[in-house]
This record gives sequence, structure tokens and C-alpha cells, in this order.
Amino acid sequence: MVHLKKDFPLFENNKITYLDSGATTQKPVQVINAVEEFYKKYNANPHRGAYSLSMEATEIYENTRTKIAKFINAKHREEIIFSKNATESLNLIAYSYGMENLKKDDEVVISIMEHHSNLVPWQKVTKTTGSKLEYMYINDEFELSDEEIESKITDKTKIVGITHVSNVTGTINNVNKIIKYAHKKGAVVIVDASQSIPHMKIDVQDLDADFLVFSGHKMLAPLGIGVLYGKRELLNKMSPFLMGGDMIEYVYEQETTFAPLPNKFEAGTQNVEGVIGLGAAIDYIENLGYDKIQEIEEEIVSYARQELSKLDFITLYITPNEENHSGVISFNINGVHPHDVASILDSEGVCVRSGNHCAQPLMRFLGIDSTCRVSFYFYNTKHDVDKLVVALNKAYDMFKKYIVK
Ligand code: ALA
Repeated sequence: MVHLKKDFPLFENNKITYLDSGATTQKPVQVINAVEEFYKKYNANPHRGAYSLSMEATEIYENTRTKIAKFINAKHREEIIFSKNATESLNLIAYSYGMENLKKDDEVVISIMEHHSNLVPWQKVTKTTGSKLEYMYINDEFELSDEEIESKITDKTKIVGITHVSNVTGTINNVNKIIKYAHKKGAVVIVDASQSIPHMKIDVQDLDADFLVFSGHKMLAPLGIGVLYGKRELLNKMSPFLMGGDMIEYVYEQETTFAPLPNKFEAGTQNVEGVIGLGAAIDYIENLGYDKIQEIEEEIVSYARQELSKLDFITLYITPNEENHSGVISFNINGVHPHDVASILDSEGVCVRSGNHCAQPLMRFLGIDSTCRVSFYFYNTKHDVDKLVVALNKAYDMFKKYIVK
């Protein structure tokens, strides 16, 4: 197995077992250097100056847009819109596409697995437009069955929002099936690829997704940069979400005409260092290759599933079908609060997330308040899993006398 931790300076400085890449990944030196180089050599505001430095900054910024379009196989580069994160991309779709297209009694269908970012905006938009918010629920295997998909997506459905990979259970949803079925019913589909694109190749044309969003920071890039992909014909019809500089064509005292795509959706000075960092992150992922990433992760996740299932004091919230499971594992030590477990793990140098993972409706559906969650990336090793298991045994030993059976 290749050990890639050496590319990540944080691991040199902190001898930790980092198992929270679903929250944010660590950053390789290549990304850090690209951002540093931008500030040292090219810093200027893109699209703003006629001088060479600004034009160079514009070129780097726009070349990254082209790189992202190729990375996800978008047909047109202007289908890539930069945002702050997946949350902002989803809000843009909800406020612009949702507000403008939903009518009374139309339905928006999302899954119970959605992160609050693909749920709360739809509550707001459906309430305002008089439309309805419906849910697809998971079965006992933490998966969406075909029957559930087909019974919830109907002729009334106008928008389907679906996470490609759950940030709680790690379930890989059958987005191909959902998109095909929703299109048959005349609905558009928004795919939240935040937890999938770090781990698997995304091809928006092959998927035929109408919109697809992700955050850069979960795929090696800096914090604060996100992407919205949308089919050109849809984006062209939508109104701008944020108004201000650089998204306009002509501004009069009372009226404004807007710039064409993609500028229409990029108001104000953008997170250029984030864009540069995202470009470097894509280079890193492409150099390593998704095949290699998957080979490494499959070995680790499979080992983690095996080792964690041996611990009879924990409950796992994962599908038994390994082929439908990505690198996220939620669990609880029965009878112990996840925050207490996470604190003990932290004292052993093991970083895991605990809480509701911005998925309160899913927690309620599962009949729990919170879980501990480990999430892997290609820089993890089987040794990290061993450290987790040792720390979990230690936590159980500490708490077992207080556990009420
Ligand atoms: N959405 C991120 C997570 O699931 C922060 O951890």
C-alpha cells in the first residue's frame, strides 16, 4: 500500500489519526504551494484590470473553470459557477430555480438522508410557493429502495434533491436510477456530490444531472470554495441569486441587465485563492487517479467494517452491501453519549466527528440523537483503523460500569 501522508504537512506536525475527512480533508503541499505562489506572483483581482497582472489572474481563474468542466465532463465551461461551498450552491438553486418554477401543489422530493443544506432551503421555498416537500425514506439496510423512489417521485414532482453519498451512513445512492426515473416524470434533479466527488469519478453528462454541487474543502482544496454545475439551458433561464459587481451588463438608475453565464452568478470579488487551490487539488486527484483512490479506500473501509463489527458493544449504522458503501461509518457505543466517546478518542489522538452531522431529520428517523462518525480518505491506512479500535476499547472500558443495560 502506498503511503501518501508525506504529502500532507499537517501530519508531519501533528501525530494524529485523522478520521474526519467527511468534514474536511487535509491539504497536500501541492495545494498549499499553489495558493502561496498565487499571492507571491499573480495576486490581482480577476476581470477588474486592463493591466497584465490582473489579466494573468483572470487567466488562471478562468483556466481553472475549464479544468473543472473537464474534470466533471461538463459540456460547456460556463456551466461551472464558483460559490462559497455546496450550501451556497444549493441555496442558489433553491432561491433561483425553486422560487421561480414551483407552483402551488407541486412537489419537491428529497431523501431523509439529506444534509440540512439540501433540506432547509427546500422547506423555505416550498412554504413560500405553496408547494410540498416530500421525503424518500431509507430501509433497514440504510438504502433507498427502488419501490421507495418510484412511489415518491410522481407526476407532481418538479424537483428532486438527492445526496450521492450520505454524510452519515456512507450509503451510495443510486443516482442514475433516480435521475432517469425523475426525468421520466418531468422533474429536474439536483445531486449533492459533496461526499462522493472526493472518492469517485463524476461525469455530469453520463449522469444527466440537471444540477450538481460540491465543496472544494472535502477534496483537498482550501475552505470557502464551492462549485455549482448546472445545464446551460437551465442556468440561462434563472435569475441571479446575489447582485453586485461583475454580474451585470448595464446598470441604470432603476434597471439592470445582467452579464451572461457564468458571471451572472458570480457577484463581487471571488475567492480566487480558493479557485487556484481547487485547481491544484484536481491536479493532485488526477495524478493519483480515482482507480488508485478507490483501491486504497476499498481496502481500508472493508478492514474498518470487519474490525468494527467485531466490537459487540457498538451499533453500526451502515449498509450490509459493501458495494453501496463509501468511506463514512457512523456508530455508537451502546449507552454512551457520542461526545463522550469522541473525547476519549481525542485523548488517544484519534479525531472523529460526533453529533447529528447536520442531518437531524435522519437522526430522528433512526430514533437517535447523534452518532460518532469516522470518514476515511486515501491518506488513511489500516494502522489508523487499528488505532481507532484500540481507542474504542479503551473508551468502552472506561464507561462500561456506567452503562445502564
Ligand atoms: N458537511 C460536513 C460533514 O458532514 C461538515 O461533516
